[in-house]
Amino acid sequence: MNTLKRTIVICLFTGYWMIPFAGFGQKTLDQKVDSVLKLMTLEEKVGQMNQYNGDWAATGPITPDGDKQDQIRKGLVGSMLNVTGVEHTTELQKIAMESRLKIPLLFGQDIIHGYRTIFPIPLGEAASWDMKAIEQSARIAATEASAAGVQWTFAPMVDIARDPRWGRVMEGAGEDPYLGSQIARARVLGFQGKGLGHTDAVMACAKHFAGYGAAIGGRDYNTVDMSLLTLWNVYLPPFKAAEEAGAATFMNSFNTLNGIPATGNSYLQRDILKGKWKFQGFVVSDWNSIGEMIPHGFARDHADAALKAISAGNDMDMESRSYIQNLPKLVREGKVSVNLVNEAVRRILKKKFELGLFDDPYKFSNAQREKSQWDNSANLMVEKSMAEKSVVLLKNEGQLLPLNREKLKGKTIALIGPLVRSIRQNLGFWSYSWPDDSLRVISTWKGIAQKVGDDIHLAYAKGCSITDTSKAGFEEAVETARKADIVIMEVGEAADMSGEAKSRSNIHLPGVQEDLIKAIYATGKPVIVLINAGRPLIFNWTSAHVPAILYTWWLGTEAGGAVADVLFGDYNPSGKLPITFPRAEGQIPIYYDHFNTGRPPKNANDLNYVSSYIDLPNSPAYPFGYGLSYTTFSYSDITLNSPILRPGGTLEASVEVTNTGKYPGKETVQLYTRQMVGSVVRPVEELKGFKQVYLTPGESRKVTFALTVNDLRFYNAHLNEVYEPGDFKIFIGTSSAQVKQADFKLEK
Ligand code: GLC
Repeated sequence: MNTLKRTIVICLFTGYWMIPFAGFGQKTLDQKVDSVLKLMTLEEKVGQMNQYNGDWAATGPITPDGDKQDQIRKGLVGSMLNVTGVEHTTELQKIAMESRLKIPLLFGQDIIHGYRTIFPIPLGEAASWDMKAIEQSARIAATEASAAGVQWTFAPMVDIARDPRWGRVMEGAGEDPYLGSQIARARVLGFQGKGLGHTDAVMACAKHFAGYGAAIGGRDYNTVDMSLLTLWNVYLPPFKAAEEAGAATFMNSFNTLNGIPATGNSYLQRDILKGKWKFQGFVVSDWNSIGEMIPHGFARDHADAALKAISAGNDMDMESRSYIQNLPKLVREGKVSVNLVNEAVRRILKKKFELGLFDDPYKFSNAQREKSQWDNSANLMVEKSMAEKSVVLLKNEGQLLPLNREKLKGKTIALIGPLVRSIRQNLGFWSYSWPDDSLRVISTWKGIAQKVGDDIHLAYAKGCSITDTSKAGFEEAVETARKADIVIMEVGEAADMSGEAKSRSNIHLPGVQEDLIKAIYATGKPVIVLINAGRPLIFNWTSAHVPAILYTWWLGTEAGGAVADVLFGDYNPSGKLPITFPRAEGQIPIYYDHFNTGRPPKNANDLNYVSSYIDLPNSPAYPFGYGLSYTTFSYSDITLNSPILRPGGTLEASVEVTNTGKYPGKETVQLYTRQMVGSVVRPVEELKGFKQVYLTPGESRKVTFALTVNDLRFYNAHLNEVYEPGDFKIFIGTSSAQVKQADFKLEK
């Protein structure tokens, strides 16, 4: 059949001819998919399940191999990752259009916290507890990325993490299933916007399914072993929320779960995701996670790995080549049913149709749109606002903060520490690569300099580096502090000390940074410490001595401007910790929603045959939900509309929150519950809701939460999602550790 005839046949089957008649006898999506599937050879089908990394960047160990472009031309590649930009995506899409069936490529990218405009790392955004802001952050990321040819982001990462030694804690929403679920939903909605098919919507990808954050020892890629109770009550809820929000894709994870690699785990992918949750999208493996089932000891070779992965419900193979090199033969040998291949290909083609790629393969590769989104100043303003909301005020003794520009006129502020002038570091891990001297990224130094102008003199000393042990810079730093009226220090991790494959056994402030703080503190000058990190760090001496401490994560492109706004009170910090901060690595895992045990300590110092350490108080350095403001808030006792909740009824719990300080401020009012007795033991606290209120000095607001029995459901020993009558406590307050409480009964 000559090319013209073949093209006509293909257009007839793939519906290109339908464009002018759209609406008349419109094929259903499934009919369109089946019309393409019918034309495909087995190799072309498996080609759709094959994803390669582009030749321009890599986010995993590269496998050298033959000419990918030739494989695209032969219809043996369904997707590429780490290919961005109109130029590169157009180049490869054109090659795909030379293939026999002209099936468009999908371009996927880790747009985790921004594309051109880099937002705070996700753990920092989570500290904002502001779902609209988080959704908007994802929306902007999608708008910028989709203007650069990307149709699919490998985000949101929704892994619950209770171990800050794990470097990827920076990428998620912290330790709590409820907060994590709300944020998962916000991010999926943000990325997918008005729905697939819009040119500013990208496919979301809930990852890493599942349990990846529970790696033993916090060591990345390590074994995960947990009860199904913990899996269902703690680690699955954010994935369920992502699926319910319409996440187009899922990515499975590197880890084994209870002895079976997630990539080859049909309980996860078929029983739960595609079965119980009826997920209609497709599942992509993680980078070579199919091939890694061999070292896991779950597959003999790549053919065995391919068989086990597709049988378990993994639809697309990222970078292992197991599918493309083995599936056709496995099908022909009758070891893999072609139905499994057809199901996977249907799921993938459906998304390509929904994205509109069959109508216009180049719809996301538009040079004009890319240019318009390359330096979008409006996005920078949104980013700065998100950054401000992410900052957590940990301490402010004597109201050292906010700084008063008037009183500091003519004075000197010393800016000391290895991160004061950082640029690239502020973008955190998983950020678009920027030159270290980029003028577009605002350092703390630059942000404060822009804020104070000539009114206040700024002095600078690096003092030490992030990780090495040299104290050679201390003398200059101390001298600089002595000559100043106040000192702002900026310390922490380097941006690449958290993230993938960045687990740390020691999460103290690295190097000699805390020694530098001690040296500066000894000058007697007022000291403010800013801490940059992608995880909770340990800095007990600093916590005990330094009067003012702000946790500034990695705040993105406008970091310095946001920090300056917070320091000078143009933004009153409102962040609340989405993860517990331990006093020592020895306390890990430490999290607020723990079980009571049979010997709960009576207080932080109880050592009398109770569940505690004899060398540490029984409490974290900073608890989940903790964060101060420049103002103060008081809470009334809780009032309930009834002491009894029955199925079908609503328990209304209210508090009066008052701004008792002198600055307007936002407070995140948190609601927790505790089931006192259960068929299985239940956590001492569980976040069930939160509301943000903005109050001016002296203003009060009644904050009311409505609870139904559905809010009290959990998975019992039989993995049924139930609520159980009995006594409950309800807690409302400013953090998980500072709450008012009341009692109620849940009756049948
Ligand atoms: C990495 C990560 C995953 C990412 C993928 C593609 O190894 O585990 O989160 O999306 O590879 O970069």
